[in-house]
Amino acid sequence: MAAVKRDNFGSRLTFIFAMAGSAIGLGNIWRFPFMVGEYGGAAFIIIYILCSAILALPVFFCESIIGRRTAKSSYFALESIAPDSKWKYLGLISVITCFIIDSYYSVVGGWSLDYLVRSCSVGLDAPSCEAASSVFGGMASSVWEPILFHTLFIGASALIVIGGVKKGIEKFSKVTMPILLVLIVTIAVYSISLPGAMAGVEYLVKPDWSKVNTETIAYALGQAFFSLSLGVGCVLVYSSFMKKDENILAAGGWTAVFDTMFAIIAGFAVMPAVFSAGLEPGAGPALVFETIPYIFSQIGLKAPVVSRIITILFFLAIFMAALTSAVSLFEVCVEHLVEHRKFSRKKAAAIFFSGCWTLGILCSLSFGVMSDVKLFGDTIFDFCDSLSSNYLMTLGALAYTVFVGWRMKKADVRDEFTNSGSLTANNKIFGVLYFAIKWLAPVFIVIIFLTNLFL
Ligand code: PHE
Repeated sequence: MAAVKRDNFGSRLTFIFAMAGSAIGLGNIWRFPFMVGEYGGAAFIIIYILCSAILALPVFFCESIIGRRTAKSSYFALESIAPDSKWKYLGLISVITCFIIDSYYSVVGGWSLDYLVRSCSVGLDAPSCEAASSVFGGMASSVWEPILFHTLFIGASALIVIGGVKKGIEKFSKVTMPILLVLIVTIAVYSISLPGAMAGVEYLVKPDWSKVNTETIAYALGQAFFSLSLGVGCVLVYSSFMKKDENILAAGGWTAVFDTMFAIIAGFAVMPAVFSAGLEPGAGPALVFETIPYIFSQIGLKAPVVSRIITILFFLAIFMAALTSAVSLFEVCVEHLVEHRKFSRKKAAAIFFSGCWTLGILCSLSFGVMSDVKLFGDTIFDFCDSLSSNYLMTLGALAYTVFVGWRMKKADVRDEFTNSGSLTANNKIFGVLYFAIKWLAPVFIVIIFLTNLFL
């Protein structure tokens, strides 16, 4: 059979942009600030950084090594390294996990688009926290509005993926990532300059260790995996488009640095504003959609134009970050069908669009008319979120480390990581990395997973 010609990312920088596009998303701007708020501020940040560096980064390299070595999507990559084994089903689980995440992720992505449109048109004026909360609740629990924005959001990700790796994903992330950085830094500077904001800054830099327990560590690890898009084949598939002479260590290292930096800056964009308004940092998932509109409209009483602009920039940032991440989830699914069935990208995208759209609608309705429908005690949205981020991602990450550490030949892993021994720094750290892949990461992931499950 003639080999299908595959695109490649043009350079290391464009790979990093695309990978950072996948990594930086709702996880950074929406999830990270509220987790920091709920789980003890600076102490959570320190544990999160340690989890990222010691446990998440080795998983990142595992996926990267498999993807770049085989230049195939998850299912076929595993099959080609371990032929006639069951490992290929890990690739299939990755595709299914991406499908589930993309479905509920697009609902939240749709909310951010909705809030962006509102802030550009009628505004998001909220005289009190309760008012902001009822606007958000009213929007999320209605039928048509969130479905409309969910449709637009998922349609946009499908169109970018149809464009292909070079003309779609690379081009899009090259433009959005720098803009995103400027946006979030601008908002953080503004937030820190508000009266009373220093209490928020202090909260982010002074650790309160009394709040740390095993749950904190489990959540920090889960957040590190979610934020770096690990355990679901995204890094594997993007790395399969990486050129052979690229440096896996540098590409992965920079992606992790950008992702972590971005999450922390997002914390500085949100927390000082929260403290400045005298609000509780532990508002949970509603933090960004309820608290932020209230805070900015309070500021709007004195400086309406500035507050309007900052609100627009804030939701624009969330929307763009969410879109580049949704694109990577979509790409894993599409690439699988393209390789498996030899479908065109368009046809594969149409199939996944319909699937994610349908499941997404059920997730969206679970905030309103279907809120009584429960799966294992959770609404459909919460079930999809918890199934994928608490179980499938963690177990997927574990399986990828076991595959590289125990199933692949050490010589092949070394060969791929060091570009056949030609990269000095990679050669030097290989021993430590291999230990982390074979022992450290799997053992810790199992301990943390089980502790979380039984406590
Ligand atoms: N990393 C993305 C975020 O932080 C979410 C994501 C998870 C994307 C898994 C791809 C795969 O929002």
